Amino acid sequence: MKPTHKLMFILCPMLVLGFIYYSSGKLHLPAWGQKSLYDKQGFLLQLDAKLPQELAYKYGNLSEGACKPGYAAAKMTTIYPKFIKPAPLFLDRNFKRLAKVSNHLPPFGFKTQERVIDSILTITKNYGLGEELDSLPCKRCVIVGNGGILFNKSLGSRIDEYDVVVRLNEAPIGSYSKDVGTKTTLRITYPEGAIQKPENYEKDSLFVFSAFKPPDFKWLKHMVFKEKLRGVEGFWKSVAHTVPREPTEFRILNPYFIQEAAFQFIGLPFNNGVMGKGNIPTLGTVAITMALHNCDEVAVAGFGYDMNTPHAPLHYYETVKMSAIKESWTHNISKEKEFLRKLVKANVISDLTHGI
Ligand SMILES: *[C@@H]1O[C@H](CO)[C@@H](O)[C@H](O)[C@H]1NC(C)=O
Ligand SMILES: *[C@@H]1O[C@H](CO)[C@@H](O)[C@H](O)[C@H]1NC(C)=O
Ligand SMILES: *[C@@H]1O[C@H](CO)[C@@H](O)[C@H](O)[C@H]1NC(C)=O
Repeated sequence: MKPTHKLMFILCPMLVLGFIYYSSGKLHLPAWGQKSLYDKQGFLLQLDAKLPQELAYKYGNLSEGACKPGYAAAKMTTIYPKFIKPAPLFLDRNFKRLAKVSNHLPPFGFKTQERVIDSILTITKNYGLGEELDSLPCKRCVIVGNGGILFNKSLGSRIDEYDVVVRLNEAPIGSYSKDVGTKTTLRITYPEGAIQKPENYEKDSLFVFSAFKPPDFKWLKHMVFKEKLRGVEGFWKSVAHTVPREPTEFRILNPYFIQEAAFQFIGLPFNNGVMGKGNIPTLGTVAITMALHNCDEVAVAGFGYDMNTPHAPLHYYETVKMSAIKESWTHNISKEKEFLRKLVKANVISDLTHGI
């Protein structure tokens, strides 16, 4: 063997080893004998609410209380370096190019539903929040959860100050407006959760559809095209038969938020990427995930179940008790809460009702 070849034999493995050592530092892999700074999901173990220096500098000149552009995503990245902000809020005509969701069945993607979605999106014609909100340089969003913790806290006027107010399923406003506000920008809904009485819809919110199983898209198509719903198989409770909205007021939430919340943020069982026991995030956590990608600042209200008080109301608007949720087959409330606690502790989101 030529001496130069010998040298290459020695040099190559050394370069490879050197590279592995270097990249393990960069990727925060636990090097030998060194404790990882990150938990299993990839979140920093030592969370604090302080603003890192570069962000303190970036926002230093803003007046007190001004909206901080990019804040939630920047803070998220400091505690979860894998975070990649861009993720479209709603499906648009190019939805088939969304690689992360095209190969998963609902709820984690839209596989098998492409044709139905195509026909829905042809008639809805709108795929954004609307001109005014889409052009805001800094958007503040609040996700209003349905928790009993909202009751009698008089947060209504504070909630109404947000640019985007997100409500979930059939959560009413009506006589609760003192506590929950009057404004609704988005109402995110799955079929079983949709408001059933047309007169109970607020005037001008977008109907944002979130699919949890394949038949859901078919239901949406009936609602958008105002077709009579025949047979309601595949639903676990009765569903609305009409949604009093123009086709242009319907949106389809990007299923990526369900996938990312379940497998990346919360760490629910992957189960080959299909729905299984305890691997579906609640709609509230899906909405928060959506907001991390699409809002500059994110607040939540009405989140958090106190398992120690099983007789407290589960929702602010009905009398089902906390204890009812213990039987849930689909969700893993305690694991979900661990994730939300990280966001609140690091001040990625602010929790107006302090229930998380
Ligand atoms: C803040 O204001 C000072 C003084 O006007 C300026 O020098 C500095 O560049 C500004 N910082 C940022 C991040 O805009
Ligand atoms: C609501 O709060 C007010 C004052 O904060 C209190 O006086 C009242 O009793 C509360 N009502 C209920 C039903 O808890
Ligand atoms: C929730 O997750 C924990 C920890 O992984 C597990 O022990 C528990 O069985 C899960 N609960 C449900 C309902 O899947």
